[in-house]
Amino acid sequence: MTKWIEKIESAQTPSQIEEIRIAIFGKKGELTAAFAQMKDAPNEDKPRIAKELNDHKARLNALLNEKKVSLETEALKEAMKAEGIDASLYSPRSQRGATHPVMDTMDRVIEYFTNLNFSVETGPMVEDDFHNFEALNLPKYHPARDMQDTFYFKDEKLLRTHTSPVQIRTMMKTKPPIRMIAPGSVFRRDYDITHTPMFHQVEGLLVDEKGKVSFANLKFILEGFLHHMFGDVEVRFRPSFFPFTEPSAEVDISCIFCAGEGCRVCSKTGWLEVLGCGIVDPNVFDAVGYKDVSGYAFGLGIERFAMLIHQIPDLRSLFEGDIRLLEQFR
Ligand code: PHE
Repeated sequence: MTKWIEKIESAQTPSQIEEIRIAIFGKKGELTAAFAQMKDAPNEDKPRIAKELNDHKARLNALLNEKKVSLETEALKEAMKAEGIDASLYSPRSQRGATHPVMDTMDRVIEYFTNLNFSVETGPMVEDDFHNFEALNLPKYHPARDMQDTFYFKDEKLLRTHTSPVQIRTMMKTKPPIRMIAPGSVFRRDYDITHTPMFHQVEGLLVDEKGKVSFANLKFILEGFLHHMFGDVEVRFRPSFFPFTEPSAEVDISCIFCAGEGCRVCSKTGWLEVLGCGIVDPNVFDAVGYKDVSGYAFGLGIERFAMLIHQIPDLRSLFEGDIRLLEQFR
């Protein structure tokens, strides 16, 4: 008895308590054995022995439980001490980023068009010649392919040079009418202060019955969009060329830095080119098997928008991953 009491008292951990408990009360435990031996005792001694053993049992049980609880409480206190924080400690200011200006601009563009019920479509970045060029009225060896310096893979695959292939993919999997935008990364062999080999575009495409979609519709929607993005600017449509639209236009806004006076950013012209657009060329509809439809399309570069909106001088700084750049956009 005293041996057990000492053992319990000197236990260090809850698991040691359990070991002691087993040594006393387990199948081969000492007290279990004592209870078993009782049957060999003379009858007149049995009540006394039974009482003694039961008293021991109750006493030891109580001691075991008490010690276990106190050891557990102690362990918990230790753990809390170890995990606790000292609120008075000095902590250096943590570096905090922000939504990247490219993604922020992208979100604003997407929001504008989804509010007008345009759906958001996506396509693969590794494209094939058909979707990126051929179906967009850019046959092999056509000189207009030089407008976009392309990364090619060995097996006729390429990194998409624009988001226009998503127009083709969407038309081929759905029926008109279509009203979609396609945001995403595109790739070209280009690298200087206004070009990076990867950048982002948002494509727009609207298709409806023949005669229903006009250049005036296109002008209207893009003017609203550009005023939303750049505020109170003048918008100018300038004739241009894209193989997949006819007629085509490039769209300029009056320079937001000099209000049209002429400065370094607008190369003294007073205008900034911000997107390309046009009426969908009938050859494109032929390539996807659409009949008796009309439509318009447009495409814009997100980095160009972000650079103008935030006055970022070198496009490459957007992709250096330097947190000091992001900290400015909190
Ligand atoms: N895909 C063209 C480009 O990357 C932009 C564009 C899209 C122009 C749709 C007209 C219509 O330059």
